[in-house]
Amino acid sequence: MAILIRKATDIKPSEITPRSVYLDRRRFMQHALGASVLLAGDAMLPAWAKRWPELAKSPHSTDEVLNSFEDITTYNNFYEFGTGKSDPAKNAVNFDPKPWSITVEGECSKPGTFDLEDFIKPYALQEYIYRLRCVEGWSMVIPWVGFSLADMLKTFEPNANAKYVEFTTLYDKSRMPGQKRRVLDWPYVEGLRIDEAMNELPIMAVGLYGEILPNQNGAPIRLVVPWKYGFKSIKSIVKIRFMETQPRTTWNESAPREYGFYSNVNPNVDHPRWSQKKERRIGAPIWKPKIDTLMFNGYGEQVAHLYQGMDLVKNF
Ligand code: MTE
Repeated sequence: MAILIRKATDIKPSEITPRSVYLDRRRFMQHALGASVLLAGDAMLPAWAKRWPELAKSPHSTDEVLNSFEDITTYNNFYEFGTGKSDPAKNAVNFDPKPWSITVEGECSKPGTFDLEDFIKPYALQEYIYRLRCVEGWSMVIPWVGFSLADMLKTFEPNANAKYVEFTTLYDKSRMPGQKRRVLDWPYVEGLRIDEAMNELPIMAVGLYGEILPNQNGAPIRLVVPWKYGFKSIKSIVKIRFMETQPRTTWNESAPREYGFYSNVNPNVDHPRWSQKKERRIGAPIWKPKIDTLMFNGYGEQVAHLYQGMDLVKNF
């Protein structure tokens, strides 16, 4: 595994590409390519993408140094496009996330199947700058574009039996070549308890750095749950199901001793094969020591109450 080690706090501001510069770069490229390409390019953007330059920043955002667009889009875990960190960027190039529909089913009064554009239209998009801590021991700071998961789920009017929510990734071997190998039991599924899902932090992300979500990051729509290990943040979602019983989840089924249903970031509970006390911020210099991993990835104020009275060693 190729490891880039550079602590984010040591990155010079000049090395970081803020969203405004990205937008400027895009505009520059469009100008450089000529007006006809500009028009064709803009016509290909879905209508909702045009709102993105004016996004408000969520108050839950961290002010830590952002990882670069390059780090975020070239060091990925997305087994549907290969198991290596650089595989998704290479193998998802030709993935076309259009058209895309999402089915909402189970314990709710307003189930249905929706075209992506109709699905996201009712919600206010914001920028959410969240830390992402992977169970493998690395982390990043990512400026997502998205909307509140809770707001979205409420639209479908979950009933009293809805104790959990299950999310499912697209299963299509012809479009996701990694699914030809049975490294996981496809399709990838994840789940949250309903009160976790209704917390103010989780989002459905449709972009990052003010741009449409790159394929390798889970286009066209993915979950982001910042206080849990990264694998809970399921990509390329096609189905959402309200359930009375705890859903099965892909990594828990694959290695139940290593990956629990809750998977809250917890420096006090080691992975059976490595410690979870520290993390390596992607982009930090190789000579910099790792940083301490924080309980609930630093989001304890917002989420610790969800687990009151629970044994988090048992419910890892
Ligand atoms: N979702 C699907 N469908 N397939 C995957 O392999 N990998 C998970 C998660 N979501 C994964 C997934 C893991 S292990 C992590 S750490 C994050 O995606 C990585 O998200 P990123 O590549 O956008 O940083």
